Amino acid sequence: MSNITLNPIYEKIIDDLSNQKYSISDFFFSPEETKQLRESIIQQDKDFHQAAIGNSQNEQIVKSVRGDKIRWIDESQKSKTEEIFFEKINDFILYLNMTCYMGIEESEFHYAIYPEGTFYQRHVDAFKNDDRRTLSIVLYLNDEEWKDEYGGQLTLYLPDENNTEKELNVLPLAGRIAIFDSKTIPHEVKKVNRPRYSITGWLKTRSRTGVI
Ligand code: OGA
Ligand code: MN
Repeated sequence: MSNITLNPIYEKIIDDLSNQKYSISDFFFSPEETKQLRESIIQQDKDFHQAAIGNSQNEQIVKSVRGDKIRWIDESQKSKTEEIFFEKINDFILYLNMTCYMGIEESEFHYAIYPEGTFYQRHVDAFKNDDRRTLSIVLYLNDEEWKDEYGGQLTLYLPDENNTEKELNVLPLAGRIAIFDSKTIPHEVKKVNRPRYSITGWLKTRSRTGVI
């Protein structure tokens, strides 16, 4: 711990994660960093492909579950702008590993565009046959004026005191980052009424079952 400088933004996220298994932060990236990442996703719009679910090949079935188009980011081929993203994320990973012994060994990220009329039905991010996904991270790259009536809320389904479920609706505001437990938090993306931009990814530990 001796070489780590206390980072109040990371500390707040870690506190939230340990208390409630999710954290929403508007200060992880600066407005200028967010703006550059937003320009980068908009410029590359055409290189995206329909996102898949499991191993399903049928595009109609997939679209009834999720309608986003994605492009995986290859960290070894990152652009100048993507460097901004990975520098911060890798710093955060180091911090998690040094202060909380989280054992994050890998990460994977993709850009996501939800065209008008699309959504992602309720799901959990960790796969049944691969338990490495530990923390889900979504950085929103919309403009600041995103309003409730545009839809596209991230809805987290959280346990409440009576063992029932409560919903938390998160607006995808520019620069906002949502971080949550990949294994236990069901969530969905509500139908959008205008294109919705983000970078989504996962911090992964070593497999605990040895399946992978
Ligand atoms: C996902 C996902 C949430 C969001 O891609 O798995 O749940 O708010 N995304 O984009
Ligand atoms: Mn998800």
